[in-house]
Amino acid sequence: MPEQVKVENVTVTIDGVAVAVPKGTLLVEAAKQIRREIPVYCYHTKMGPAGLCRICLVEIEGMPKLQIACNTPVTDGMIVHTESGKAADGRRAVLELYLVNHPLDCPICDKGGECDLQDYAMAYGQGASRVADAKASKPKAVDLGPTIVLDEERCVVCQRCVRFDDIITGDQQLVLKDRGVRNIIATATGDPYHHDFTGNVTELCPVGALTSKTYRFKSRPWDLKRAQTSCTQCSVGCQQFVDTRADVVARTMSVETDDAISDTWLCDRGRYNVGFYAGGDRITQPLYKQDGEFVPIGWDDALELWAKAILAADPSAVGVIGGGRLTNEEAYLLQHVFRAKGVGNLDWRAGRQQQATPGRNGGSLLALEGVNAIVVIGESPAQRAPVMDLRIRKAVKRGAKLIRVNSLEIAPPIGVACSEAASIADAIGALPKNARTVAIVWDGVDRSLGKALVDALPPEIAVLAYVTGEQGNARGAEAMGMHPSFGPGYAGVQSGKDTHAMIADARAGKLRVLSIFGANPALHYPDGPAIGQALAKTPFVVVSELFMTATAKAATLVLPAKGAYEKNGTTTNLAGDVLPVNAAQELRAPDDALSDLEMIAGLAARLGVALPSHEELDAAVITHLARSPEHFTFGDAAFATGRGAPHPATGGDLRLVVHSSIFAGGGTIAHDDRLAELEPLPEVALGAADAQAFGVETGDYVDLASGDRTMHDLLVEVRPNLPRGVAVLIGGLPDDPANALGADAAATITNVRKGALTEVRA
Ligand code: SF4
Ligand code: SF4
Ligand code: FES
Repeated sequence: MPEQVKVENVTVTIDGVAVAVPKGTLLVEAAKQIRREIPVYCYHTKMGPAGLCRICLVEIEGMPKLQIACNTPVTDGMIVHTESGKAADGRRAVLELYLVNHPLDCPICDKGGECDLQDYAMAYGQGASRVADAKASKPKAVDLGPTIVLDEERCVVCQRCVRFDDIITGDQQLVLKDRGVRNIIATATGDPYHHDFTGNVTELCPVGALTSKTYRFKSRPWDLKRAQTSCTQCSVGCQQFVDTRADVVARTMSVETDDAISDTWLCDRGRYNVGFYAGGDRITQPLYKQDGEFVPIGWDDALELWAKAILAADPSAVGVIGGGRLTNEEAYLLQHVFRAKGVGNLDWRAGRQQQATPGRNGGSLLALEGVNAIVVIGESPAQRAPVMDLRIRKAVKRGAKLIRVNSLEIAPPIGVACSEAASIADAIGALPKNARTVAIVWDGVDRSLGKALVDALPPEIAVLAYVTGEQGNARGAEAMGMHPSFGPGYAGVQSGKDTHAMIADARAGKLRVLSIFGANPALHYPDGPAIGQALAKTPFVVVSELFMTATAKAATLVLPAKGAYEKNGTTTNLAGDVLPVNAAQELRAPDDALSDLEMIAGLAARLGVALPSHEELDAAVITHLARSPEHFTFGDAAFATGRGAPHPATGGDLRLVVHSSIFAGGGTIAHDDRLAELEPLPEVALGAADAQAFGVETGDYVDLASGDRTMHDLLVEVRPNLPRGVAVLIGGLPDDPANALGADAAATITNVRKGALTEVRA
């Protein structure tokens, strides 16, 4: 646990009110304690003072000149006036300067109604300009990159965006160019502004200079209806506002007070991947496959058919896969109904991840900031749990040492030092000498590595453990009992079959009914051909989905589901926090879509299963169930129903390693046209030695073959640091599934083509 430091308090009097705050507190923060707002542009709580804009001027008794409140620590006995005539005069003068060249195009500006320049000009400015000359005008609507537009003439040069890119993400793409009245924001290289957190700058920008392409000119703030919910697109669960207008999601915003989960940021996936709600390709009614074609049917018929298939089969021939997209309550109900019918073949694990609950070492996201070292095992959280990666970066900047084990494919958080460890022993050896608290961040894939590290750490070191999930509510599904070995709250149950055993049964013709909820194993299950055969050979496959995914296309019955903004409930994030899921206001789901809770309840009625009581699904009970079990740890044998560590491939040239990308995914991203530019191309990353051996370089296109299977047109990226014999693929691309060659395939590069794919494909 982080050390307890004794804090000395000082007392400051602000506008006649005495307030005691820790020594060193900035005046602007001390004022917040008494709900006194001091205007700021460049200052931001998460980035500290910059002292650039001078709008925060205050009068401090005993000081001859006005002082900036954002960079002045309070001292004992200090007497401050934030609203005196002198302070107001100072702000008026500062504002006058800002408005000399500002276009004041408030009637068309997207920030109108929530602009700090507009607000402060009203509060402190003067009515008319004393400048007779025409304003200098700069370009409008400058395309800064795939997500952001810049109106150069609105910029007040506060540099918050530049500092965000430096302090928070480390990307350092944005810079301030030119001087004086010609100051503009641009990327240092002139390339498009592009990383995974760009949308945050639109919120940080105090004026309407930076806007999101997806929201620009869509609404005025007072026309929006707002709900607060949790993002469900990954296992972090950032808190966010969902703003709807005319029944469409207009935008999402971060929640400023969300220090504990998101630290007030959102990644671009969580922020922008909302267009699919209004997408024309939602499934709008139940579909039943007859003679190989889907035909629409009513819900009554669909539920009857489903129940009949379950009742006709032996419970051991019935299976359920999925749950990571569902709420806690839905996952609970799902296992409740099937277990009540004697079905024990239940598993949330549809992909590579084997475990979601860290067990007795579980830690909070906030606590991650105070550790002495962070060991990342397997895939970096950058693409699986992006906002967590920002927290890791923050911890490292505060002094934590970052060590990676078996984490070859992804770079560490930008701009922070990272030690590579080849083995667990290496990682232990790399720990700082006096480390007392170590965080382990595991991708949940290779159980042996996670367990070996926990076992090898000296007992005097406190361990905080986190598993980054492949699905938003993987941990919730596990805690609610969507697991072949556990019921709700990790209670022991009569063991059933895990995903791998169910798929083996299906391929052997022994599984009669398979219900898949919020999962797309056709794309994510490590062995693509095996899941393809399993789906084809199971007589009755039911899929609850929003879109016709590869799995849904293989189903017998497809059930139209509501998305996260269309329903209520809770999820459990990777740190074990039970978070609220609230429906957006007046967002209309497709008419015939049901929440998974509604459809499972409908099934229960037809199966003659009594629903759990209200009390059983109460938030307090869910929270209790989601508590990390004290008797488990990483890689615990109790979770060992999975296939375990991938076996090194033999007999081929390259071992395939699959990694995540936040903008890949056959779930929602593929159904949001606005994000097409962000979707990664199918690529294969190779180390320098292999690239040389195959005669390829970055930008070439190749096929990848294993046995009689081939993946076509993969863009080559040579990453010098990748070891020999490894090829890294992006998982979850709907048109190019990385599981196409089978699990643990040993593949070889074939059919090398030089030049652009467009030429190759033409
Ligand atoms: S674009 Fe916005 S955030 Fe960036 S410097 Fe200008 S006003 Fe500040
Ligand atoms: S980090 Fe995860 S939870 Fe947070 S905004 Fe991004 S996708 Fe959503
Ligand atoms: S907020 Fe104080 S100088 Fe900018």
